Amino acid sequence: MSKKLMRAVQYDSYGGGADGLKHVEVPVPTPNKDEVLIKLEATSLNPLDLRFQKGVARPFVPPKFPVIPCADVAGEVVEVGSNVVKFKAGDKVVALLNPVSAGGLAEYAVAKESLTVQRPEEVSAAEGAGLPIAALTAHKALVDIAGIKLDGSGPRMNILVTAGSGGVGHYAVQLAKLGNTHVTGTCGARNIEFVKSLGADEVLDYKTPEGATLKSPSGKKYDVVVHCARNIPWSTFEPNLSDTGKVIDLTPGPSSMCTYVWKKLTFSRKQLLPLILIPKEDKELKLLVKLVKEGKLKTMFDSKHPLSRAQDAWAKSLAGHATGKIIVEI
Ligand SMILES: NC(=O)c1ccc[n+]([C@@H]2O[C@H](COP(=O)([O-])OP(=O)(O)OC[C@H]3O[C@@H](n4cnc5c(N)ncnc54)[C@H](OP(=O)(O)O)[C@@H]3O)[C@@H](O)[C@H]2O)c1
Repeated sequence: MSKKLMRAVQYDSYGGGADGLKHVEVPVPTPNKDEVLIKLEATSLNPLDLRFQKGVARPFVPPKFPVIPCADVAGEVVEVGSNVVKFKAGDKVVALLNPVSAGGLAEYAVAKESLTVQRPEEVSAAEGAGLPIAALTAHKALVDIAGIKLDGSGPRMNILVTAGSGGVGHYAVQLAKLGNTHVTGTCGARNIEFVKSLGADEVLDYKTPEGATLKSPSGKKYDVVVHCARNIPWSTFEPNLSDTGKVIDLTPGPSSMCTYVWKKLTFSRKQLLPLILIPKEDKELKLLVKLVKEGKLKTMFDSKHPLSRAQDAWAKSLAGHATGKIIVEI
């Protein structure tokens, strides 16, 4: 019997940017025992999706070509695997697909039950789809590593969020404010009001000489830096850190890995900590969806694109100037 087909966007080799994406019709995937099949309503892009296409993890990622990219999705469950207990057809959900095999730029995708959460009606598909990788990363940095408490009961820390205007940064600024911290954000001039509107107490324009120093306008030293930008050397962070300040680096390269090891070996009180998000359970994603439902956390949209124009979304993300999340609506 021939399988039902769906529209999808895929690439079949490394490189090629937005032009490397092809619109195809492929069979609707079948959920395994512990998976749900989701009819997708929205998918969000992350720089990782584009870096995989560039070949940063070749030859392991993607494991095979062609690949349908993007892992952050929201939609409606239409079928469940035999071991699935938490979901039934008709449930609205947010899910994080396996970022390596992905599958989000399509009409249907399969997700592990363990990384799928219910989406209440107050949370739109686009708001939900923005969350998985970006908001989970911000949460991991601030809650798991920095130790802030989202109910505001923790110690009052000074936090710097570099690229506070981007996908991760805009969630990090908001979550840090829920934790009752003092937040400084960096961004370009056009996003200063945007980052302030997310709650940042102070904002630095990274393209000015003062902004490039990362020095807090009020002279505060940072207890934690959530480093969402790239290519800022340790020597720029170091004078701005408190005695036990930590830089949580979201895009660790060889130089930051050397700094990490050196700081450990020398028992330095100031540290650089690389962060790689590897979510295993749904607890944090559930919490983030709840915060959106309660109006305490917002997904801000850079832009929304139909699946038929997925190349535009891809090109927008590649340009590196997103303000909030780039969404593809299915
Ligand atoms: N480790 C992990 O598990 C993990 C998880 C998620 C993301 N990441 C990484 O984290 C980084 C951020 O991700 P994202 O989704 O937030 O990216 P994004 O949305 O593409 O970030 C774009 C934003 O960053 C701003 N920006 C760029 N360079 C800047 C600088 N030097 N200072 C201040 N702002 C700057 C841009 O502002 P302008 O337009 O004004 O230039 C733009 O608003 C990426 O490198 C991503 O790969 C890592």
